[in-house]
Amino acid sequence: MISEQEIDRFREIVWAVYAQRGRVMPWRTDPSPYNVVVSEIMLQQTQVDRVLPKFLAWTERWSDFDALSHARTEEVLSTWQGLGYNRRALWLKQLADNVVREHSGKLPDTLAALTAFKGIGPNTAGAILAYAFEQPVVFIETNIRRVILHEFFPEQEEVSDKAIVPFVAATLDREHPREWYWAMMDYGSELAKLVVNPNRRSKHYARQSKFAGSHRQLRGAILARVIDQKTVSLADIGGLLERSDAEIAQAIDALVLEGFLKRTRDGITMKS
Ligand code: ADE
Repeated sequence: MISEQEIDRFREIVWAVYAQRGRVMPWRTDPSPYNVVVSEIMLQQTQVDRVLPKFLAWTERWSDFDALSHARTEEVLSTWQGLGYNRRALWLKQLADNVVREHSGKLPDTLAALTAFKGIGPNTAGAILAYAFEQPVVFIETNIRRVILHEFFPEQEEVSDKAIVPFVAATLDREHPREWYWAMMDYGSELAKLVVNPNRRSKHYARQSKFAGSHRQLRGAILARVIDQKTVSLADIGGLLERSDAEIAQAIDALVLEGFLKRTRDGITMKS
């Protein structure tokens, strides 16, 4: 399904992006089970920027499961204000109560025990096992999905999570699952900032891409050209590879993002 070589190449890209763009977040600086649970539940439907101040306020007020278990419901709801989906605040409070009562204040570290809590599905449980306990589990989340689609399904529409899971499993760095998934998240969030090629669904684009080969081949060809000629203008690449401008721009965006290329006044060149 995927060769060792492809796995290595993919991991190199993910780690390279992480080295350049890895984000600092308080639940990463101190990935205690409590911090991880609070942040993952907050992050389920809310973006990182909006979660940050709320996470800091929340953990300032209740720094562990025991403290949260003593909180009053009104306080919990008022501190949650602004994050939306208020049920999540109540679930978090119930989880703290349960951890204190049934688990001696320690978050359990199995999928079965975690998914027994309200508000924790298999993917959130997977994230918690990876981030808080360094377990090499497989889970899917929107950024992870985006990365796998970008790398391994560049020309397919409507790919199911069932098809994505084997790629997450095959590429996972089992020795460093926590950092690996942080890196996948950061890569996914960078990819989200790139413009999606609007031509993707056009009949013409589909016909052309069928003949012209895969996204990965295009990236390889661009890199080879740049290595060979040092600096390459966009017009050169367009003429040589017979791909649409949009497709080429997308491949170059990805190569720049991954740290292979940089843009210059004259076109593109190797990063260093
Ligand atoms: N780091 C740890 N968990 C994260 C998440 N859910 N989204 C983004 N970055 C994270």
